[in-house]
Amino acid sequence: MKRVLSLMLVVIVAISLTLTGCTKTSTKIRVATDATWKPFEYVNEQTKAIEGFDIDLFNAIAAKAGIEVEYINVAWDPLLAGMAQGTYDAAISSITITADRAKAMLFSDPYFAAGQIVVVLKTNTTISGKNDLSGKKVGVQLGTTGNIEVDKIAGATSKPYDDIGLAFQDLMNGQVDAVVCDNPVALFYVGANITKLKTTGNVFTDEQYGIAVAKGKDDLLKKINDGLKKVKAAGTIETLSAKWQLGK
Ligand code: ARG
Repeated sequence: MKRVLSLMLVVIVAISLTLTGCTKTSTKIRVATDATWKPFEYVNEQTKAIEGFDIDLFNAIAAKAGIEVEYINVAWDPLLAGMAQGTYDAAISSITITADRAKAMLFSDPYFAAGQIVVVLKTNTTISGKNDLSGKKVGVQLGTTGNIEVDKIAGATSKPYDDIGLAFQDLMNGQVDAVVCDNPVALFYVGANITKLKTTGNVFTDEQYGIAVAKGKDDLLKKINDGLKKVKAAGTIETLSAKWQLGK
């Protein structure tokens, strides 16, 4: 009986040592995303799950890098602020790499090229690009590069929204004259409202999306970049662009 008990004790100690070992080696990181940006990150109405191009991409990177991920849905403004304060380990959210943001957070290698474009009502005949936005009210997502670009246009008034979907809603209701946002997102909304909306003029900025990593987490950045390299080499960017219909 004594022998059986001590054997059990040995087994229990062995199991708990293995378990502690596991929790130590596997890293679960907190990844922020503002899931209001179809088709890159959005909440599936039915399942309530966060999905999209960025989520697929980050999952693929995480698999290569051996990291476990917890996604945290957070609005765009607090996402950038949280990344600057180290509230999250990383963020994937169609984030344009800018010199200004790079002061407050680290960025991975670029993974997607995008740029700003103007969307108007299909019936609109007066706005044919960003140069016609003077004197107009323009819907943008607060704090995005679209917001920054519209604010640079003399005479244009930006109307910031937390959710770009609401800006498109207001465009269709006649509350704003135009919407400016990243071209793949613009194309998504135009596609979903093809009888009402159109893009007008050219893509007028050159932007690159990057994964943001909190300052000081250089090891994580390296893991993400290594994973991204592998994922790119496997053709995953093209596969996911096709899956999410990001034809440009
Ligand atoms: N690319 C733009 C920027 O970095 C817009 C990104 C908005 N992303 C989002 N998930 N809402 O400013």
